[in-house]
Amino acid sequence: MPAVPDWEPLIAAARTAREHAYAPYSRFAVGAALLMEDGSIVAGANVENRSYPVGMCAERSALAAAVTRGLRRPQAAVVVTATSPPSPPCGMCREALRELGADEMPVLLVNLEGERQEWRLADLLPFRFELPKPG
Ligand code: THU
Repeated sequence: MPAVPDWEPLIAAARTAREHAYAPYSRFAVGAALLMEDGSIVAGANVENRSYPVGMCAERSALAAAVTRGLRRPQAAVVVTATSPPSPPCGMCREALRELGADEMPVLLVNLEGERQEWRLADLLPFRFELPKPG
């Protein structure tokens, strides 16, 4: 991966995904986009449910879509929200991103005005859960 990813296509994909969010309960639309190891971009939106805990976040929608395509190594992530400052991923999505992304993976948080915050994945979730080694 280049040291600095080309953010613009990722931001565009996350913004489009956000427009497709199904968020009638919270009215908080989120779009996410992942740059994968083959250079492709995989996006996701949040998908809510009347039984609230059933809802799915945008970041995990994108991860599921990537894995379904046979892509498991996100190189960079963008999350688009309409808040200022741009909203960070929830704890569950941080765990999910760290399962497949490297410590150094950049995560860019963006809002509709173009405000940006860039994080390193391991800084978003330090001291993460670890399974004991088998045996
Ligand atoms: N949401 C995400 O899509 N990603 C996050 O990291 C946090 C929250 C969604 C879940 C729900 O549909 C809405 O935002 C409000 O919590």
